[in-house]
Amino acid sequence: MTAADHAPIETPPRAPSPVHGFGTLAVHAGAPLDPHTGAVIEPISLSTTFAQTAVGKPVGEFEYTRSSNPNRNNFETAVASLEKAKYALAFASGSATTAVILQSLAAGSHVVSISDVYGGTHRYFTKVASAHGVRVTFTPSIELDIEGLITPETKLIWIETPSNPTLSLVDIRAVADIAHRSGVMVVVDNTFLSPYVQNPLEHGADIVVHSVTKYINGHSDVLMGVAALNSDEIHERLRFLQNAIGAVPSAFDSWLAHRGLKTLHLRAREASANATLVANALESSPHVISVNYPGIASHKQRKIAIKQHRDGLGGGMLSFRIRGGREAAERFCQATQIFTLAESLGGIESLVEVPASMTHAGIPKEQREIAGVFDDLVRISCGVEDGRDLVIDVTSALEKALVAPKISNGAANGNGHAH
Ligand SMILES: Cc1ncc(COP(=O)(O)O)c(C=O)c1O
Repeated sequence: MTAADHAPIETPPRAPSPVHGFGTLAVHAGAPLDPHTGAVIEPISLSTTFAQTAVGKPVGEFEYTRSSNPNRNNFETAVASLEKAKYALAFASGSATTAVILQSLAAGSHVVSISDVYGGTHRYFTKVASAHGVRVTFTPSIELDIEGLITPETKLIWIETPSNPTLSLVDIRAVADIAHRSGVMVVVDNTFLSPYVQNPLEHGADIVVHSVTKYINGHSDVLMGVAALNSDEIHERLRFLQNAIGAVPSAFDSWLAHRGLKTLHLRAREASANATLVANALESSPHVISVNYPGIASHKQRKIAIKQHRDGLGGGMLSFRIRGGREAAERFCQATQIFTLAESLGGIESLVEVPASMTHAGIPKEQREIAGVFDDLVRISCGVEDGRDLVIDVTSALEKALVAPKISNGAANGNGHAH
């Protein structure tokens, strides 16, 4: 390690407000009129290669689609604008984004991560990163522990806020201030809130990542990831790896995700409003033990939400513990008529799942429960349907799950969801 490795990083001040508001940027950033036809919506550029007028002299700025492509470029420009970043780099999935960032670290590096990261991130940290000599330490209380966990080898702090599925928050600025004093970089996974609700770079993070698969695309039909950042040096390194590793999205997926992103502000506002209605309805139900939703006063870190989220919004995700244990949680998920029982989140349609039996089943029960993931925890992703219908669906499913338990899960129950 050289002295330069551990030079303090300056925590960036809050960025100045851009000239245009979020909705205007969502619609117009990275969306030029087609110079040849005047098309208002960009064409999909499926060509994998681009002509050159002489050896090493391409006609335009493109040579080969893995290195760069018009649709991916436009999508990256749009995300950079919404995350108030200088650069954005798109990848084939959120997981590929994580992998590339971890691969940018030298062998022997140490990473500190919150304990309740997304399961796939946890899997990469524990089962893949170690193979290339990167060690990860997990902590359930990063704001308290961070100072003691940083060693001379520590290069990166990984935060997910809100966390999945318990919706715990991390004060990004508090962690970044401490990390930066030791020259350690901070990455925030912002998938659960989207750039509309939270811009981690404004709170001192160095890189913000998303599973675009969720809110940014928003229509549950694209698998993609993105990282946004300001540092020229980190950008150069990640851009090199983006091309060298080649885990890049197709032109068609980039186009689709860009189309989805143009309505992010509308969807994120509606999903937050719906989640607030559902959280309040759940909280007033005698069948519910507790509700985790950062948009309401009962959330234990509501102050952080007010500081860090746009207008103190809670986003579209929430979870709750149902009375009656795992059986009641499962019956609830099979009793809803509008919420579909499925993994994933952030789409226009509302989803429901039981993390202990589905998304988090791979984590040992004891470890899960320390993080608050009990067998009776139900996770909800609120879509953009009518809030009133969602509340009716949730309250009647609670009644069905607890008052009149079902005998079977078949179509005869009127659910019709595939499980
Ligand atoms: C918070 C979070 N980060 C990252 C990922 C990984 O993204 P992808 O499924 O696009 O690889 C997910 C996927 O569920 C996620 O929920």
